[in-house]
Amino acid sequence: MNKRSIAAPTILVATTALALAPLYRSGDIPIPLHHALHAVMMAGAALAGILFAGSLARERRSGVPWLLVAMFAPVIAMLLMWPSQYSYFEQHPYGHVAEHLGLMFLGFTAGYGGQRYANGIGWASGMGIVAMAVLSVWGYGVGPAAATKVAVAKSLALPGASPNVAQGTTLFAQNCAVCHGVGGAGGEGPSLKNERVRKPLPAAEAWIENPAPPMPKLYPGTLSAQDVADLAGYIETLR
Ligand code: HEC
Repeated sequence: MNKRSIAAPTILVATTALALAPLYRSGDIPIPLHHALHAVMMAGAALAGILFAGSLARERRSGVPWLLVAMFAPVIAMLLMWPSQYSYFEQHPYGHVAEHLGLMFLGFTAGYGGQRYANGIGWASGMGIVAMAVLSVWGYGVGPAAATKVAVAKSLALPGASPNVAQGTTLFAQNCAVCHGVGGAGGEGPSLKNERVRKPLPAAEAWIENPAPPMPKLYPGTLSAQDVADLAGYIETLR
């Protein structure tokens, strides 16, 4: 056993332990840190892939298909970090772990495939996939830039409506608890605990006004502008 053949599995095991984190650690971490951890996972997996490919005998390497593999892995990783998928995965620990393992697989594939195509290419393709995850720390590629989001949320927020949390509690029990559970604990719809981390007040208001299916759009109609503000105000208090 040479050093390389020990290093690759060790890195892979450590990275997998990190990828399983949502199973044993619940609670919220800031979104940028979350993406940074994705980058670490992909970096670990890509490095392991490079080392594995490097430990093969030289004559068993090369082949154009490996270049294609190395090129497509980052593209698929980009799709995995798509915002709607992402928020779903984030709500379900097993889905979240599946997403992590998917990202690791793609990181590994990028490093391994590139290195099998030609010595050194694995580092380029591995770095490419990690750079993408690092960029997403600042919101690149996973959604509109943060500044745009705030501007959109502000333009949608209703002027002058300041939330009445007691009223919001009642409205929530009437309109939302069927799906989100009593106190927002979760049910058919995702848990809304710590929602303020994911959606600050203006974003929560904007979401309630314009939710994505299957969540019903109740504004305007069932809910008034003031109701939306009250509901959003209440949700922000959940933890
Ligand atoms: C028919 C079931 C249903 C009802 C009723 C419902 N929701 Fe939802 N809600 C969902 C589902 C499903 C999602 C996840 C949608 C997604 O992520 O694409 C969601 C997502 C949300 C989110 C965003 C969670 C996140 O990921 O940040 C908020 C906030 C929310 N709902 C608030 C409310 C409020 C307030 C009400 C009552 C006015 C309500 N919902 C009523 C099903 C429902």
